[in-house]
Amino acid sequence: MNLPGTSVSVWMDTTETTNFPPLGGNISVDVAIVGGGITGLTAALLLKRAGLTVAVLEAGKIGSGVTGYTTAHITEAADERYKNMISSLGESDAKIVAESSRVAIERIAEIVAQEKIDCDFQRVPGYLYTENTQDISEIEQEAEATQKLGIKTSLTTDVPLPISVKAGLLFPNQAQFNSLQYLQGLAKSVNGHGSFVFEETPVTKINSNPVNDVYTEHGIVAAKNVIIATHTPIHNLSSLPDLYVMSTKIAPYRSYVIGVSLHSPAPVGLFWDTDSPYHYTRSYGNILIVGGEDHKTGEEVNNQQCYEQLETYVKARYNVKSIDYHWSSQLYEPADGLPYIGKTAANNNIYVATGYSGNGMTFGTIGGMLLSDLILGRENPWTKLYDPNRANLLAGVQRFVTENVGVAKHFIADRFRSDVKELSQVPIGEGKIVDIDGKKYAVYRDERGDLCSLSPVCTHAGCIVNWNNAEKTWDCPCHGGRFSTTGEVLNGPPITDLNQKPLPTSNATKG
Ligand SMILES: Cc1cc2nc3c(=O)[nH]c(=O)nc-3n(C[C@H](O)[C@H](O)[C@H](O)COP(=O)(O)OP(=O)(O)OC[C@H]3O[C@@H](n4cnc5c(N)ncnc54)[C@H](O)[C@@H]3O)c2cc1C
Ligand code: FES
Repeated sequence: MNLPGTSVSVWMDTTETTNFPPLGGNISVDVAIVGGGITGLTAALLLKRAGLTVAVLEAGKIGSGVTGYTTAHITEAADERYKNMISSLGESDAKIVAESSRVAIERIAEIVAQEKIDCDFQRVPGYLYTENTQDISEIEQEAEATQKLGIKTSLTTDVPLPISVKAGLLFPNQAQFNSLQYLQGLAKSVNGHGSFVFEETPVTKINSNPVNDVYTEHGIVAAKNVIIATHTPIHNLSSLPDLYVMSTKIAPYRSYVIGVSLHSPAPVGLFWDTDSPYHYTRSYGNILIVGGEDHKTGEEVNNQQCYEQLETYVKARYNVKSIDYHWSSQLYEPADGLPYIGKTAANNNIYVATGYSGNGMTFGTIGGMLLSDLILGRENPWTKLYDPNRANLLAGVQRFVTENVGVAKHFIADRFRSDVKELSQVPIGEGKIVDIDGKKYAVYRDERGDLCSLSPVCTHAGCIVNWNNAEKTWDCPCHGGRFSTTGEVLNGPPITDLNQKPLPTSNATKG
């Protein structure tokens, strides 16, 4: 199974890969968990601790999803500002978001200590700050909102970055870790005594019955309960219509990260500015890690330029010795600002967690905690707020409609779009949508000059893919499906590869 990107994160570079076996036949457990990211493995550990047997089925290696590409800020400072949450949800629900995020930070700390996970877990302060005078009031309003909700923030201009800060908000007692080492620690604790972690085991189908059958090419896992922890819900796995609806409530965004060495020690803490899209900064040892330049996946942007803009941003502020890492990955913005975590409507024994925005360390942990409680029949005060079947909150309706108008636009307008009309216009190492006699081909020219021609129609719901020149992938603008140059699915929601589409013989040899 391929990774969702071709880039390598600092976590992957500094961590040995795991070697759990693939599923080797049919088995039966209490809970089957699809996906070995922070959501799936947290749920798995908590369920196993409560005495159930679990099987985690991971398509690639542990952490080969977004948790291996995150920047791993562990924070109660939500991407969706608390000021907005108070006005859209009301104070008591916004308080649940704040409280559950704090509980998640402490739960991660408890798991690290209890399971003795060596993952450089560290308590650090977090700072929301601005370099712009016009954003000072935004910081002040967030200070007021967070304090109303009981978060122990304080206004400060003493932000330990070598930049001119106009206003800052300190969130004390946040945390950071090496996300891949954390996941591997979870996986080791889960595996054994009747519970399993299987790698290289993509799930291809779920038959929803009182006892669900989870299909893989290596065997079937029979389980009363199934958790779909695949970051974006892969609705083609089962015929549950509500999983399809869920994919319309989350919008895929790519985010870019660079890791640099500085001539001075890297600052310690988590930092988020007020730019749009915002920049997020932390360090890992001597490496300064800065992310940003987010844009909707599959939009026609020059992806390579996103890295260049990030480099410009960093070089303007820090004394950079070398740029050591570039990576990018995908996050999902929920329509109303809150993740969807809970039971699917149509089948009470299938559970889902998605739509974490840039807060998947806390929301993924909340997801694991909440789903395990639901399966264990325990009351959880967060159930209603994060219910995946809730109606879109009023403030989310506009965003929901806008995102889906965007999807409809791509579905229709992109069918008429092409990049070039001649194969000779596809440079080495690049992909283009080529129009030949009114037919569209997604054509990639490899380093030897050979062409690979695919159908540009995404196998999920039929939108037209776009070329990503930074990752060298075909990306779908509708729900964030991504494919390799040879058409293999890299990440969901599609589960079927792009179809090969041979070029007309008169053209196949040209170019
Ligand atoms: C660049 C970037 C930076 C970020 N920084 C932060 C941050 O600083 N702090 C923060 O809180 N959040 C951050 N996030 C968000 C956070 O990383 C994610 O929300 C979180 O990692 C998602 O975890 P997950 O377990 O739900 O999904 P994943 O980690 O993606 O795990 C899902 C797993 O499911 C597997 N899978 C998929 N399909 C199948 C199948 N059919 N069968 C079997 N397995 C399958 C995948 O291989 C994958 O391993 C960031 C995101 C990005 C993109
Ligand atoms: S990901 Fe949904 S149509 Fe491509």
